[in-house]
Amino acid sequence: MGVEITVEGLTKSFGRQVIWQDVSLTLPAGEISVMLGPSGTGKSVFLKTLVGLLKPERGSIMIQGRDLVTLREADLYEVRKLFGVLFQDGALFGSMSLYDNIAFPLREHTKKSESDVKKIVSEKMEMVGLTGSESKLPGEISGGMRKRAGLARALVLDPEIILFDEPDSGLDPVRTAYLNQLIIDLNDAIQATFLIVTHDVNTARTVPDNIGLLYHRHLAMFGPREMLLSSEEPVVRQFLNAQRQGPIGMAEEKDADELAQEEAEGHEMPPLPPIPLQLPTSAGNPRPTQREPGAWCRENGVTPPPGSFESHSTAAPRTTPELAS
Ligand SMILES: Nc1ncnc2c1ncn2[C@@H]1O[C@H](COP(=O)(O)OP(=O)(O)OP(=O)(O)O)[C@@H](O)[C@H]1O
Ligand SMILES: [Mg+2]
Repeated sequence: MGVEITVEGLTKSFGRQVIWQDVSLTLPAGEISVMLGPSGTGKSVFLKTLVGLLKPERGSIMIQGRDLVTLREADLYEVRKLFGVLFQDGALFGSMSLYDNIAFPLREHTKKSESDVKKIVSEKMEMVGLTGSESKLPGEISGGMRKRAGLARALVLDPEIILFDEPDSGLDPVRTAYLNQLIIDLNDAIQATFLIVTHDVNTARTVPDNIGLLYHRHLAMFGPREMLLSSEEPVVRQFLNAQRQGPIGMAEEKDADELAQEEAEGHEMPPLPPIPLQLPTSAGNPRPTQREPGAWCRENGVTPPPGSFESHSTAAPRTTPELAS
């Protein structure tokens, strides 16, 4: 049912360039967390560090009682099997069919028979709505289908932790909505621990159980969705307040600096928009790790912005996507 990851005091530099320092957070088992941050703040570096592809200078990453930072290569190899990673571009092999791409980790890391491989690949392709596209090459399908194929491949080894690096980049709003629904339904079905890097504010507001924000070489904040969506902290507001600024403007740290300057000069922030309901599963059941709307606010004596938790207006369509993309 997913595993917890506890990051403590993590610092990563390249040469003299500090990417981020003293990052501490816990990704709760089975929950969906989103990481936001301007372009270049080291979100992808964070994912690569979590999976052990990059070594931090300081800090620890505890998973099942083991610290990934100090593990030997052989043990790290074992721990990595807990992870499924969806890279930004899907990272599919261009000359292989979707079927072979998705079967690749099974053929590489397990001794399963071809008939078992077929069963697993078919099941995962169905999960992501790609049944019927087995023989297509990555170059013959749309960007949205490639993302889903990458997701199917990340799923074949039944990971306990899935890291998504901008699964929604380059997708139109409708396909982003479908993908978000897929992520919610998938989390409900396999109950792994999810960490999603995204620039999409609507995704950040409606999909996760927890939100984090990397900003100016620090983790500005990490916590339950309602905590960040009701936060008065200027940087957090600036990022999560959809009324104020779109994700593209926020993709530049410079813009954020300018906005901070504006704020210092006395420009008023607009009121916090209502906290939307979290995207429900297609079936309508709550996910095992889902909290009740308003629960965090109530428990912490925080009054949510007026109109919070009232409608599904920002929720994505409730149906599973058809094959066409
Ligand atoms: N292997 C590397 N060697 C040296 N510097 C690197 C390496 N990988 C990343 N960086 C630097 O680390 C910083 C953070 O990069 P990263 O790709 O994590 O940003 P990001 O937050 O994912 O940005 P985006 O939103 O644009 O994807 C950048 O300045 C980048 O140049
Ligand atoms: Mg990135």
